Amino acid sequence: VNKVEFSTTKKMQEICNLLQKEVNYYNWVGFYFKNGEKRELKLGTFAGEPTDHTIIPFGKGICGQVAESNENFVVPDVQAQDNYIACSINVKSEIVVPLFKNGQNIGQIDIDSDTPDPFSEEDERFLEFVNQKVAEIL
Ligand code: SME
Repeated sequence: VNKVEFSTTKKMQEICNLLQKEVNYYNWVGFYFKNGEKRELKLGTFAGEPTDHTIIPFGKGICGQVAESNENFVVPDVQAQDNYIACSINVKSEIVVPLFKNGQNIGQIDIDSDTPDPFSEEDERFLEFVNQKVAEIL
């Protein structure tokens, strides 16, 4: 997925915009993808404040940990995490759900919230569904 069609990018931008607008505790919504053969993630489409962290090495932060674990990571309180990359001082919590294409972890959806501990299993199931749908257009 190094070359994503423009129409795919537009669809993914719409997904980010929609999620951020419709779910009041989704304050920043973005997709990170594995950057070619490198052991790092690269930011794709997002909705919310621009972040300095457009490249994240595997293992670093919540996102980098999910790149290696292949598992959902729900963080009710970001301040309690020692391996965390802060993007905004307003962020209280985060959820990262890996995106699989043909069984491979190729990226993830990352959501930051200004609300403490808002994410439930319903969010996990919903975001897994969103990622499945995105994988179908990649
Ligand atoms: N907080 C993330 C970094 C990405 S920003 O949330 C957009 C992390 O710890 O990996």
